[in-house]
Amino acid sequence: MRIVHTVADLRQHLRPFRHPAVVPTMGNLHAGHLALVQAAKPLGDVTVATIFVNRLQFGPNEDFDTYPRTLQADCAQLEAAGCDLLFAPSEAELYPQPQAFTVQPDPVLAGMLEGQHRPGFFQGVCTVVLKLLACTQARYALFGKKDYQQLLIIRHMVRQFALPVDIIGQNTCRDADGLAMSSRNGYLSPQQRKQAALLWHTLNTCAQAVRAGGTHFAELENQALQTLRDAGWMPDYVAIRRQSDLQAPQIGVPLVVLGAARLGSTRLIDNLEI
Ligand code: PAJ
Repeated sequence: MRIVHTVADLRQHLRPFRHPAVVPTMGNLHAGHLALVQAAKPLGDVTVATIFVNRLQFGPNEDFDTYPRTLQADCAQLEAAGCDLLFAPSEAELYPQPQAFTVQPDPVLAGMLEGQHRPGFFQGVCTVVLKLLACTQARYALFGKKDYQQLLIIRHMVRQFALPVDIIGQNTCRDADGLAMSSRNGYLSPQQRKQAALLWHTLNTCAQAVRAGGTHFAELENQALQTLRDAGWMPDYVAIRRQSDLQAPQIGVPLVVLGAARLGSTRLIDNLEI
């Protein structure tokens, strides 16, 4: 695997290829990221991963400084997964000047759920994703459904700007107890780790109730919030929404239940399509 740190080197190594399949990440890779790489391989004529901890998408009180940076281990994992090229730019390389041009995502889609609890988050995500797609000249780009709202917003951005890239969504990889894999799981104490699958269990209970014909969506959401609170979590939201646009649920359209909750100081998110 080639490792490049500058846009110029990236462009040079990509010159022979026409259809890069790209997996953007912030590193500290786990099996969920590597599943994206595996899924990318048959799509393009070169498989590219990017690792960049994007300051623009972190709030002032969030974990930008402490976000795990594990480049060596990440490289070994990407190499073993058969990735061809890794683009790991420094901040000075990707943002040589302060990024004054930014992507302003649809305020409705980006203002709810994660966007409501993390103001500016999706602006930061869209800005860096647009830039990474431009740098890598991605023909395919793969994102996890673990970050459901992020995937939806990126799909909308690509459609509205007519970017020449196919966005591919991949299912969430989970640990054996159901906990969605995440770089932030490493923040959990062993005790917290034992309780962490409750978020998934609670969303699953909610999803099963809807599958069984439940339509009192607000009541189901409140029950889920209470389950989490009773176990000592601090939930931000549990929401049953339409898959297509994350608007209020309707009977007869595909739905998704999404949740975000803090366990101690670690904020976890998850979702399940219904
Ligand atoms: P990061 O959290 O590193 O995730 C990179 C990609 O891996 C995202 O598309 C995310 O949805 C996916 N992913 C994370 N956990 C997963 C799991 N358990 N199963 C499947 N896929 C999973 O998301 C970001 O980085 C950033 O916001 C980024 C898009 C790179 C922009 O900075």
